Amino acid sequence: MSNLRLCRNKHGVLGRPRSKGNILFQLTGSIACYKACNVISKLVQEGCDVKTVCSVNALKFIGKSTLEGLTHNAVYVDTFEDRSALEHIELTKWMDLAIICPATANIINKMAAGIGDDYISTIFLAFDFKKPYLVAPAMNQNMWAHPATKRSVDILEGWGVKMIGPGTGYQACGDKGAGRLSEPDAIYKEIKKNL
Ligand SMILES: Cc1cc2nc3c(=O)[nH]c(=O)nc-3n(C[C@H](O)[C@H](O)[C@H](O)COP(=O)(O)O)c2cc1C
Repeated sequence: MSNLRLCRNKHGVLGRPRSKGNILFQLTGSIACYKACNVISKLVQEGCDVKTVCSVNALKFIGKSTLEGLTHNAVYVDTFEDRSALEHIELTKWMDLAIICPATANIINKMAAGIGDDYISTIFLAFDFKKPYLVAPAMNQNMWAHPATKRSVDILEGWGVKMIGPGTGYQACGDKGAGRLSEPDAIYKEIKKNL
């Protein structure tokens, strides 16, 4: 699916509006995926070109059709899909900013270990650190407090990755504590600040 939004320039010629930023928006397997849709919708309304990448487990929480409908772009899931075999490299060149929202404990620990066994972790290995890379964690408080996660967050921050939150409060499992996804508005503002 291509980006279908068209508008007329001052000469009346129909074309794509100039993007206010190319955002690679990546989602992983958390119940907080539904909150990410608000952020994506706001970015698109603001004039950003948003391309989404989902982990296989993210698709258990959100449908491709929702993301395609919101962004007017196809959703990337499988590195070996029938498109350009080197699209993960092209995406790192295309993007002005990358974000994982929500980011699971799994993806945070995988990235810090230098593993590239799915689309999101492979893109991260090919990432150009001159551009901003944001991570908005969402997980149970014990996962967030786990020594593996703590160490991984330190490693990622040392490489220049910016953490957004997480917040503290009610969690889907019924616990209260740190690990909750930051509010969509705060995430949106952080993206705009870093563009
Ligand atoms: C209902 C449900 C909710 C989950 N929510 C979270 C979550 O918020 N954060 C998290 O780190 N893992 C969560 N998990 C576990 C992850 O989905 C699991 O670790 C998965 O392997 C992550 O894969 P991914 O990082 O490739 O998306 C949840 C699992 C289930 C079944």
